[in-house]
Amino acid sequence: MNEIAAAVAGQYITSSLQGKNVLIFGGTSGIGLSAAIQAKAAGANVTVAGSDAARAEALSKEHGFSGWRAADVTKPEAIDAALSNIGKVDHLVLLAGSFVAGKVLDADIAHLHRAFDERVWAAVHVLRAIGENLAGDASITLISGALADRPNAYGVAVLAAASAAMEALGRGLALELAPRRVNILSPGPIDTPILAKALGDGRDAYVASLKQSLPLHRLGTADEAGAAVVFLMANGWMNGAVLNVDGGSRLV
Ligand SMILES: NC(=O)c1ccc[n+]([C@@H]2O[C@H](COP(=O)([O-])OP(=O)(O)OC[C@H]3O[C@@H](n4cnc5c(N)ncnc54)[C@H](OP(=O)(O)O)[C@@H]3O)[C@@H](O)[C@H]2O)c1
Repeated sequence: MNEIAAAVAGQYITSSLQGKNVLIFGGTSGIGLSAAIQAKAAGANVTVAGSDAARAEALSKEHGFSGWRAADVTKPEAIDAALSNIGKVDHLVLLAGSFVAGKVLDADIAHLHRAFDERVWAAVHVLRAIGENLAGDASITLISGALADRPNAYGVAVLAAASAAMEALGRGLALELAPRRVNILSPGPIDTPILAKALGDGRDAYVASLKQSLPLHRLGTADEAGAAVVFLMANGWMNGAVLNVDGGSRLV
């Protein structure tokens, strides 16, 4: 993109988000934190939410966000409490989630439930908690993931199912909540803290081996995925779409 086109694109996003109230669940790390920083840079009033209150408060202060909330999204009553005084929401982004791994035949069922609780049921409960405070022309961005299309044999079947369910939920909500817009971000491998949380000491070896097989020979960055979130928020003609931001990893 040349400088003029970049400036025009930047102005378009800024004019869409200027003064708008953005609420990002999962805004305290990785993709969500980057989206929060970019939305704030475009003039939005950003509130970030995570399960760790101290972290949310510290990040909010560090980055000059408008506010922060803390709730475990698997707990409806905690969501209700956190959003009781939320005010008008123009752009809602739901990215909260962990890498829920475990094989169907031997993993703890309560653990596997988290894949759906953190995603499908969290989205339902957050939408109900915001209720009438969700602007009539709001955008909602949900999270899916490459696993929705391409699961593997290593204990991700339930997470893949939950990710695919988010895409179906998003399409349904785009009709049910119209004229609000609802889109789904489907990231391929993005280098965020989720990898170390899931893999611990195995993270570096996994990344090194994964890079070899990817078309761009690298993982995506949180900023690249965060920019895709901001695009879905700002572009008024994006609706009911699944946006792959994966460096082409779905092709190999
Ligand atoms: N990175 C990838 O390659 C990739 C690929 C496909 C899909 N995704 C999905 O994209 C989303 C963001 O991932 P990321 O890579 O940015 O991960 P991340 O850096 O680990 O960030 C996860 C965020 O979700 C919040 N969160 C997790 N569980 C929560 C819970 N039960 N209640 C409330 N907040 C919770 C975390 O806050 P706390 O720490 O305070 O709980 C944090 O803000 C996740 O849903 C992930 O599954 C990521």
